[in-house]
Amino acid sequence: IVASFGDRVLHGKKVVVSAGPTYEDIDPVRFIGNRSSGRMGFAVAEAAAQAGAQVTLVAGPVGLASPPNIAKRIDVRSAAQMHAAVTEAAADADIYIGAAAVGDYRPNTIAAHKLKKQAGAELTLQLAENPDILASLSAQRAHPFLVGFAAETQNVESYARDKLQRKGLDMIAANQVGDGMGFETADNAITLYWVDGSAELPRADKAILARQLIEHIASRYKAVRG
Ligand code: CTP
Ligand code: CA
Repeated sequence: IVASFGDRVLHGKKVVVSAGPTYEDIDPVRFIGNRSSGRMGFAVAEAAAQAGAQVTLVAGPVGLASPPNIAKRIDVRSAAQMHAAVTEAAADADIYIGAAAVGDYRPNTIAAHKLKKQAGAELTLQLAENPDILASLSAQRAHPFLVGFAAETQNVESYARDKLQRKGLDMIAANQVGDGMGFETADNAITLYWVDGSAELPRADKAILARQLIEHIASRYKAVRG
């Protein structure tokens, strides 16, 4: 570890990172999920710990070992559970990095027993909207420095800048998914946007990208909160 990693800005700071997908149960054996592997979020948590931060990692259902040196890991399954865990952990945090792919909707009801197939008939699932974790944090008067992620298949910059503004974020990390990059892969390429700037992080291993992301977060944090 380079001694100047993160310029010591994050030393002792409380950083909460969410990672992975959420699973929204339909019945005891089925769920709605997404392709997030959690690798980027886990790499970000590891990089923040290497920069000297006290890291709480809130993880959706992933098959990943905890990064070394994190202070705490909270495993959750649904978006509602992630919302509750992040809200509690972020209450006294300096920085929240929302790397999780939070499910936007959940089934209205979770069936107590396995749904039975009705042969020859269509099945319609009614979905309710999940709370937006980042937007609910930014609506609070005193809130941590907020970093979001945006995985897009098109119009990356305009969608990312829209989310930066709409969710009241300090920074957003955007990437194009598809074409063998993004979810489920070891590599990624990210563009960071903040209100009056941007930075290109070219295709690299997620561990390298995570450290570059943490460097940028440290410098923006210092600029607006230091
Ligand atoms: N996010 C969140 N809570 C949600 C949904 C998303 O905190 N219920 C966060 C994600 O962790 C991510 C950022 O918001 O950091 C952007 O997520 P994304 O799914 O791209 O944004 P949405 O507003 O849900 O837009 P979209 O219609 O593109 O899914
Ligand atoms: Ca979404």
